[in-house]
Amino acid sequence: MAIVGVQKQSVVLVPYPYQGHITPMLQLGTILHSNGFSVVVAHTKFNSPDPSNHPEFTFLPLEDNLSGFDTSYYNTLAVVAAINENCKVPFQDSLVQLMKDEEKNGQVRCVIHDPIMTFGRSAANHLQIPSLVLCTYNAVYMQTYHTILQLQAENCFPLQESRMLEPVPDIHALRFKDLGIPADIEIPQPVLEFFANVSNLGSSVAIIWNTNQELDHIALSQLQRHYEVPFFPIGPFNKMAPPSSTSFLEEERNCMEWLDKQDPNSVLYISLGSLASIEKKELEETAWGLANSGQPFLWVIRPSSVNGSEWIEQLPKGFQEAVGERGCIVKWSPQKEVLAHSAVGGFLTHCGWNSTLESLCEAVPMICRPCFADQLTNARYLTHVWNVGLELENVTDRVAIEKTIKKLMVDNEGNEMRKRVLEMKQKLETSIQKGGSSYRSLNELTEFILSFPR
Ligand code: UDX
Repeated sequence: MAIVGVQKQSVVLVPYPYQGHITPMLQLGTILHSNGFSVVVAHTKFNSPDPSNHPEFTFLPLEDNLSGFDTSYYNTLAVVAAINENCKVPFQDSLVQLMKDEEKNGQVRCVIHDPIMTFGRSAANHLQIPSLVLCTYNAVYMQTYHTILQLQAENCFPLQESRMLEPVPDIHALRFKDLGIPADIEIPQPVLEFFANVSNLGSSVAIIWNTNQELDHIALSQLQRHYEVPFFPIGPFNKMAPPSSTSFLEEERNCMEWLDKQDPNSVLYISLGSLASIEKKELEETAWGLANSGQPFLWVIRPSSVNGSEWIEQLPKGFQEAVGERGCIVKWSPQKEVLAHSAVGGFLTHCGWNSTLESLCEAVPMICRPCFADQLTNARYLTHVWNVGLELENVTDRVAIEKTIKKLMVDNEGNEMRKRVLEMKQKLETSIQKGGSSYRSLNELTEFILSFPR
């Protein structure tokens, strides 16, 4: 039976199909759904989300023609180009169909797309539907795109090694090193084009951020001068959205029972997210650093994340005997629950933005081992702005790893960080409660979407 007089309002989400991007997009969907919107997720068949985790959403698989394509992380730019090329027409056709079927799906108010998924904006623009960008990383990282493009325009690349520790103009607390462009190299043209595309808003009418005024106000206000569209910093999504699994890999829940047996704040949790990989040498040195630290640890080693092996075959001989029940190794964990567990007292992380937010929201201080992209800027902020993380200075030196673990887990320096990160957690909680900055921003976003002419 149709409900007369009450028209459903729907938003169409277009995620970039990798774990660290699809998770915040689905969390945003959940947040908007709780605010009364119908949610449609238009997604590639490659790395498709599992619809059974979100029975409240409508899922629209798009033909991406990626079967047989090299979709490894090293081929990212080609994957992005192929998705943007191949999905535009199928998405446009799906939008037309959605609009024809409005009684069932609700009135399509807008498309919300990942900045990398520019086909979402093109198709929306073609059909005169407003589009908004969801920035799944923070504003500081978006600033680095602008700075790199500006430096390129001024012929500043290649950067000299001697400049790497100098401050970057206009970005609070960053050094050239934190931009992630190594010394003495020219930036390849396709990479520059990627930065330009992702930082160009085109016809999109607003930016939604999975960040927060507490964390990012300087960069947000600087960027607001550049982009003359409304900003809606409504994060951290992981705390605003009710928990639901968005994992591509199966979560090994038995590690929760192991955690139940450990003392409060005693366990170091280790994970490098869904994409980063390491060399055998780092695996070995991390293993001995952990063994020699004497701390209990829960270590996520993703299949194929150690170069040259399927899983943990390259762990050093004698390591498992040395640590016994003190260590637990899994392929993939229920990370948000792990970080919320009272036994977890520290997180050795690659500083992906989701992991960073999840750790801050559970008041877990960090050891920072960034690998690429925004992980470098996040690590810099964790260690030098918010002072809730220690830098891991040498990832292939077991003594340095052991010392850093002890500093965080046992020494006074770690205790001071634990106090500071607890204050940050409280501020983040306040920001999403009634009257807080993210709470207000979310209300403004809802009004903004509803203000679009029908
Ligand atoms: C990618 C980029 O690498 C990252 O820098 C960017 O900020 C987002 O996109 P990823 O490397 O996967 O993401 O890191 P992160 O952003 O931390 O996201 C990983 C997600 O996987 C987190 O939500 C985390 O909770 C989840 N996870 C990780 C698990 O659920 N279980 C695990 O065992 C490991």
